[in-house]
Amino acid sequence: MGDQGFLKQKPGFSTLAIHAGQSPDKWRHASVVTPIVTSTTFKQPAPAEHTGYEYGRSGNPTRNTLEECLAALDGGKHGFTFASGLGATTTIFSLLKQGDEIICCDDVYGGTNRLFRRVAAPFGIEINFIDFSDLDLLDRSINGKTKLVWMETPTNPMLKVLDIKAVAKIVKSHSDDIILVVDNTFLTPYLQRPLDFGADIVMYSVTKYMNGHADVIMGAAVVNNDDLASKLRFLQNSMGIVPSPMDCYLVIRSLKTLALRMEHHKKSSLKIAEWLLKHPKVVEVMHPGLPSHPQHEIARRQSTGHSGVFSFRHSGGLQESRKFFSAIKVFILAESLGGYESLAELPSLMTHASVPAEQREQLGISDSLIRLSVGLEETDDLIQDLEQALDAAFK
Ligand SMILES: Cc1ncc(COP(=O)(O)O)c(C=O)c1O
Repeated sequence: MGDQGFLKQKPGFSTLAIHAGQSPDKWRHASVVTPIVTSTTFKQPAPAEHTGYEYGRSGNPTRNTLEECLAALDGGKHGFTFASGLGATTTIFSLLKQGDEIICCDDVYGGTNRLFRRVAAPFGIEINFIDFSDLDLLDRSINGKTKLVWMETPTNPMLKVLDIKAVAKIVKSHSDDIILVVDNTFLTPYLQRPLDFGADIVMYSVTKYMNGHADVIMGAAVVNNDDLASKLRFLQNSMGIVPSPMDCYLVIRSLKTLALRMEHHKKSSLKIAEWLLKHPKVVEVMHPGLPSHPQHEIARRQSTGHSGVFSFRHSGGLQESRKFFSAIKVFILAESLGGYESLAELPSLMTHASVPAEQREQLGISDSLIRLSVGLEETDDLIQDLEQALDAAFK
């Protein structure tokens, strides 16, 4: 057992983050730091022969180094990177064809919801959003057309923790061919490794913690299955949703500090959540690290802790939320999460505005729900900031 009964951290994470795929011996000049290879094309010794690389969309040495490192961190065999998290999702749903169905957890990132409803559905792919904490409902919903099951855990922005192992068991009891995807953006492989619990694809918005410096938009997928990997490789090249070598370099660099950053996010966010829990104007704190969280036990079974993203609900309404956001000084009012800088946002009007109003209401995404991404600043400074902003909101 690790901290507070969470899973124990597997040894060697930072060693992999620093070295996996990055042996200096792979470069002719033995460069210790991965070079940024900007060339879009590569000289061939003879027609239709190549020495590993032909054209930058199908493969690039900097990108492939990152992909190898990402695969190692998740305990997977194959890693793929994309131009954004949604680019990764687009590539993954392109594994399907007209008439197939995606079953998606209801409390999912707003952009994923919009992509499935407004881009995938017009291509004839059916979408069913359901609550995955109701495992019987999931079991009853899977049918002959179901080809992809998509989940996020913890969910966004309600921080519901879903049981990956239990979901995988149900999905695979119907058919081994149904692909289970876990969007692991909130936790990263440092805190949770979905392939270990039966997922087929672990997907990331690398834009968030994996890069961690709010200066790259990127997505990724990691798989173990060779057949699935070759399909994704084909789509990655055919659809062309690939990241630039410069961005790949930045992420390779960022991953070296992922473990250190996640440890700080973990400790700081829990301390802030505990403080908020005692605040008289706060009615609910959704943080999986709190023993009061309804799925705390599941979180302890499948992760090594929780990151810096969590939500809380205050006792006011939209007006109080607006005053809170005008008063914050260290937290920045902005979308996104997972960077060194602390952010606060109002999901109902921002990240989840694209979710239909009835679905938002059903999920509890009200105007008093605030999502925080606790960065790497001093925890006490962040608590003081929240204190003065809540005072200003309820004055
Ligand atoms: C959980 C989650 N998944 C996917 C995405 C989409 O990623 P990107 O913005 O890199 O396209 C986001 C972005 O906010 C996210 O929070």
